[in-house]
Amino acid sequence: METTPSATEDLCGLAEGTALCDLSREVGRRRTFAIISHPDAGKTTLTEKLLLFGGAILMAGTVKARKSGRHATSDWMEVEKQRGISVASSVMQFEYDGCVFNLLDTPGHQDFSEDTYRVLTAVDAAVMVVDAAKGVEEQTIKLLEVCRLRDTPIITFINKLDREVREPLELLDEIESVLKIACAPVTWPVGMGKSFRGVYHLLRDEILRFTAGEERAGQVVETMRGLDDERLDREFPMEVQTLRSEVELVRGAGAEFHIDAFLAGMQTPVFFGSAINNFGVREVLRALVEWAPPPQPRAAVERAVVPTEKSFTGFVFKIQANMDPNHRDRIAFMRVCSGRYEPGIKVFHRRAGRQMKIANAVTFMANERSIMEEAVAGDIIGIHNHGQLQIGDTLSEGESLTFKGIPYFAPELFSRARLRDPLRAKQLNKGLRELGEEGAIQVFEPMVDGTILLGAVGQLQFEVVEHRLRTEYGVDAVFERAGITTARWVTTEDSAHLAEFVRANQARLARDVDGNVVYLAESRVNLQFARERWPKVHFHNTREHGQKLEA
Ligand code: G4P
Repeated sequence: METTPSATEDLCGLAEGTALCDLSREVGRRRTFAIISHPDAGKTTLTEKLLLFGGAILMAGTVKARKSGRHATSDWMEVEKQRGISVASSVMQFEYDGCVFNLLDTPGHQDFSEDTYRVLTAVDAAVMVVDAAKGVEEQTIKLLEVCRLRDTPIITFINKLDREVREPLELLDEIESVLKIACAPVTWPVGMGKSFRGVYHLLRDEILRFTAGEERAGQVVETMRGLDDERLDREFPMEVQTLRSEVELVRGAGAEFHIDAFLAGMQTPVFFGSAINNFGVREVLRALVEWAPPPQPRAAVERAVVPTEKSFTGFVFKIQANMDPNHRDRIAFMRVCSGRYEPGIKVFHRRAGRQMKIANAVTFMANERSIMEEAVAGDIIGIHNHGQLQIGDTLSEGESLTFKGIPYFAPELFSRARLRDPLRAKQLNKGLRELGEEGAIQVFEPMVDGTILLGAVGQLQFEVVEHRLRTEYGVDAVFERAGITTARWVTTEDSAHLAEFVRANQARLARDVDGNVVYLAESRVNLQFARERWPKVHFHNTREHGQKLEA
């Protein structure tokens, strides 16, 4: 079986000195990944089982309890409780088979897709969970598109085989045609629903027997002498013919697993199982250990940064407030890209143009935090933040660097915040500015009308902001729909031309948090009209966090 080349071996040979060799070894055993799925496919269940196998939790039900009971430790997540959805995302670290896993949770609800996108910029691989009864669903399509932007390697887990589900061949066909990614089945189901017997491991010629039950962490494995082994006929008389013909079809289709195609994001190894019954989970972990890439080099504006470089670098991909009401602070989540974090490290904060010291970064386990003693590339550290750090910020030891690749997307929903009590205007502005920095919502200041305009990708973002303004800033605001359909950041090579454009379109222009000019369109037709009328102006639908556009 092919495996990823050991980063440790390659790098240690070249590295000078033991410290660098140690760093290479540590980086080589990191696996930083996220689980993506449509709500209800089984992401929470699989997360929990991965943690259980990794020994990070002792009892099934811990993550599940967190999903429904998180309001107990975080009051603004009342919104989440009411809707039974996962709004916030967090990070979980655990060890398995010599590897250190960083599992980044993503919000399942599509209204928080911006947040999800940012989390996915911080991972090196993703596990896609598909409900075998439902197949490829809407949110999975969107998330996979996001993964494809960075060619993130994807491992597929087809879940709920203990139920009457769709035919496996049909499911693979759907994944290939809808998600446009080649499938390489690694395990193949024997039966389904009440007659689900287990899976046949196509690379190892093994039968992994299915036994229902949440408690069992292990699974019975029997090695076969290929598909012709007569034990298959004895033990699975009803299912063996289908198994043989399906596997023959799959193998004949030339769908064998190729690590290079997987690492390039072009092919996904597929596993079948039942997360709730702990079945197939170990195979996913093994794939992560053996095939998923260790931390990869990251592109900065200046150059690419290699994870085994000695100097510390990292970027902020998420800011979360009030993770715990006892600590009314904000935490900036940073992905380490190179070097080693140790408490007290002094780094350069590029956007602010000054040095800062990180004294007591934290690490997370479910909702518990503890002080981080050390972190290397691939690890996520939580930095206490009182507004100095924003999404997209780079911190680096020594050299001044700016990592690329965390965009804002043009919002599609717009509201104006109107105060019930006009005397709270200062608090409203503060609240909106801070929530904007956190990425909860996008904030625009129209050039003509003074009322702040809020832009969102999903309606729920407004509800979260309204709720947080009330509970955290004591501001009672109502949101009124603004008659705007979409926005575009504008630039032009000719500054006189831009000035002319601004003069002619003032009523439709605003500035974003970084002072960039934004065109607010009432309709697509209106946007098209503006494009035709101003051919020398560029209209962008994304921009990088912290980026001051050359306009
Ligand atoms: P999500 O995070 O992707 O939204 O999904 P979650 O894990 O919460 O799972 C959604 C539902 O699917 C849950 O049922 C869960 O128990 C069930 N489920 C997960 N894996 C399997 C599986 O392998 N087989 C079967 N049959 N069901 C599975 P629920 O009724 O919504 O919640 P609960 O009452 O079980 O907590």
